[in-house]
Amino acid sequence: MALVDSYGRKINYLRLSVTDRCNFRCLYCMPEDGVSKVCHQEILSYEELLLLARTVVPLGIEKIRVTGGEPLVRSGIVSFLKDLSEIPELRQLVLTTNASLLEGMALPLKESGVQRLNISLDSLCPENFSRITRGADLSKVLAGIRRAEEVGFPVKINVVAMRGVNDHEFLDFAALTINKPYAIRFIEYMPTQQDSTWESRVISGEDILTRIADKYTLQPVVRGEMAGPSRDYKIPGALGTVGVITPVSGHFCQDCNRIRVTSQGMVKNCLFADAEVDLKPYLRAGNIPALEEILRKIVTEKPGKYLIANKEQSHQPFSMSKVGG
Ligand code: GTP
Ligand code: 5AD
Ligand code: SF4
Repeated sequence: MALVDSYGRKINYLRLSVTDRCNFRCLYCMPEDGVSKVCHQEILSYEELLLLARTVVPLGIEKIRVTGGEPLVRSGIVSFLKDLSEIPELRQLVLTTNASLLEGMALPLKESGVQRLNISLDSLCPENFSRITRGADLSKVLAGIRRAEEVGFPVKINVVAMRGVNDHEFLDFAALTINKPYAIRFIEYMPTQQDSTWESRVISGEDILTRIADKYTLQPVVRGEMAGPSRDYKIPGALGTVGVITPVSGHFCQDCNRIRVTSQGMVKNCLFADAEVDLKPYLRAGNIPALEEILRKIVTEKPGKYLIANKEQSHQPFSMSKVGG
């Protein structure tokens, strides 16, 4: 029986983090000295991750997005992805990456059966990019994106929109879609770390679109099947699209179809849920009936909504690199 929550939402999408390590230190994601190291034993092995995937697909999970940290820093990732892609009835295997290692890995990833890539890229200016990521090299990322295109990957780009940080670059990102077939999505900045000044950094999706529409005509794009939370538009004649993901100003919880599992095997029924359930004991004991039962329970308990901008609601600060976005 499919996974359906108590609000009737069908859960068919798993976001699976394979590591909380990352070779970047993005300002909004990690402290400068990185997140505290997790002992190897605490991280799910590839065998355990595969067992989990093989358990959830028959329960109705049709799409798995592999995330991090940065998933491509984990050794053995390509053959793990190949094993995942061979699970019968998994319709979509997709990956989120910062693209820094893509130049060398795009082809093996394509051959492993990964269908699409979402790339996190918050600036097109080398100095600003280095500032946001605390020292990463934009040219490597751009080379990785070019290579991904060459080997035939459809490319989506996630831009976390931050006032005073990258809002002067919105039009440059929009212009990029004219000649490149990229789906560029601006994400409203979310207060994952509960920093006291977060509200001053948020730029609403409406404001982002207004700024772009000052220069370009924007035509709405019809939403596809299994489309994520992005609302997309096209500049007439452009090869790509621009879109906004509005977790702060216009929550999309009513259509939420996802659960998340962290690299430490903690399942979360909402990005902002404080409660997590540890799947490791069930995976390590190979106890599939108990695993299925706990997954059904966590889906049943999925909250109806989480309103980020509602001051009455709060959550424990967390690092996005642990949860995978
Ligand atoms: P695709 O449709 O396959 O591209 O997947 P997606 O739209 O889920 O894309 P992606 O994983 O790139 O999501 C983009 C970003 O939107 C995430 O990294 C998060 O920052 C945000 N986001 C995605 N899902 C949720 C959610 O359930 N709640 C909240 N608050 N934010 C989310
Ligand atoms: N607000 C919005 N998006 C975020 N991401 C990471 N932290 C935040 C945040 N605080 C995005 C990254 C990446 C995805 C996994 O989550 O840019 O694209
Ligand atoms: Fe790494 Fe992504 Fe976090 Fe940046 S946002 S530090 S690329 S996990």
